[in-house]
This record gives sequence, C-alpha cells and structure tokens, in this order.
Amino acid sequence: MKLLDARKDHYRKLAHEQGFRSRAAYKLKELNQSYRIIGPGFYVLDLGCAPGGWTQMAVKLAGNQGKVMGVDLSYVEEIPGAHIIRENIEDEHVVDEIMDYFERKVNAVVCDLSPKVSGNWSVDHAKQISLNYDCTKIMEKVLTHKGNAVFKVFDGEYSKEFKDYLKKKFARITVTKPKASRKQSSELYYVCLGFTG
Ligand SMILES: C[S@@+](CC[C@H](N)C(=O)[O-])C[C@H]1O[C@@H](n2cnc3c(N)ncnc32)[C@H](O)[C@@H]1O
Repeated sequence: MKLLDARKDHYRKLAHEQGFRSRAAYKLKELNQSYRIIGPGFYVLDLGCAPGGWTQMAVKLAGNQGKVMGVDLSYVEEIPGAHIIRENIEDEHVVDEIMDYFERKVNAVVCDLSPKVSGNWSVDHAKQISLNYDCTKIMEKVLTHKGNAVFKVFDGEYSKEFKDYLKKKFARITVTKPKASRKQSSELYYVCLGFTG
C-alpha cells in the first residue's frame, strides 16, 4: 500500500471508529489544534456541511454552551447538538434563517464548499471561488467582531485575489493544508482570525 493510500485509509478508519461521518472531520480538528478557530461556547456556522463531519466536530469543539448550525444543498441526517438546514448558500434569504436560529452574531464561520465538479479544472476552480465569495457575503452579516473563519479553496488563478479580499477583513490569514487533506488534491485552507469587518 502506498503511503498516501495508507494515510487516507487511516483517517477513514478513524472516522468510522469514532463515529464521524467523513474523514474531513479530521481536517477541521487539525486546523483547530493549530489555530483555535473554534473554542468552548462558540456559536459556529458550517457552510456546505454534508454529510456532516465538520458539523459533528464543531459540536464537539463548541461543547454544551456552544451552538452549531450547518447548511447544505443536500440532505443531512440529523446531528445531535446541531441545527441543519437544507438551503443554497447563494440565496440571500439564508442569512435570515441563520440569524433566526442564533439570535446573535456567531464566533466562527467554517466553509468547506465544493461545487459538483465537471472535471474541467478552471471551471471548477472559478465556481468554487465564486461559492466562497457567496460565503463571505453571509459571513459579513453574521460574524462577530474578532470572529474567525475557514475557507476551503480550490487553488488556481483566482485564489490570490480571494486571499487579498479576505486580508482586508481579518487581522491574520494563514494558508495551510492539513495532513488529512490528500496531498495530490489542489485544495488549500485559508484560516482567517480576528474579523475586523
Ligand atoms: C466537501 S463537502 C463538505 C464536507 C463536510 N465539511 C464534512 O465534513 O462532511 C462540500 C459540500 O458543499 C455543498 N455545496 C456546494 N454548493 C453549495 C451551495 N450552493 N449551497 C450549499 N451547499 C453547497 C455540497 O452539497 C457538499 O455537500
């Protein structure tokens, strides 16, 4: 077995053993260990949450005093401790549903969005970045001052422009790739700390 396959297998096995719905949960766990995006008591919004691995991890990290909501186009089976809505994040009314649930601004917005991939990288990259801009529109309305955010980014020609856009809104931005993310995939994670608006 190649090292890469072994690592993939390791996270899949771990997810199965620990009751997480996706290996992706370990990406958020690892990012959180390094950057403390989510702390106990945090209100967390998870955009593009199906099948729910990040939402499950967010519930764990935010604890009893926290509040977690996930949004996805796809159906997501109930997750204890989280509220899930089936919506398109491109629709502006989603913000109202989010604020109705939290009743105050949130401490973290985590975005792991992937469009349906066409196989044409530049098309998929452009669509993924466009979804991230849609997330920032929501984020700007719901994230509290000094709050944190994470964006998955399909790396490509528009990534730098997106990073520069975020740079104006946060005190600190780090580009990283967690170990649980496949090496050959062109996804990166932008960790954004200290929302300044
Ligand atoms: C990689 S998956 C997320 C995995 C998730 N973080 C986990 O740990 O289980 C990306 C998700 O983005 C969702 N998505 C893509 N476009 C969307 C949109 N416009 N609105 C809401 N969700 C969207 C997809 O349906 C898909 O479930």
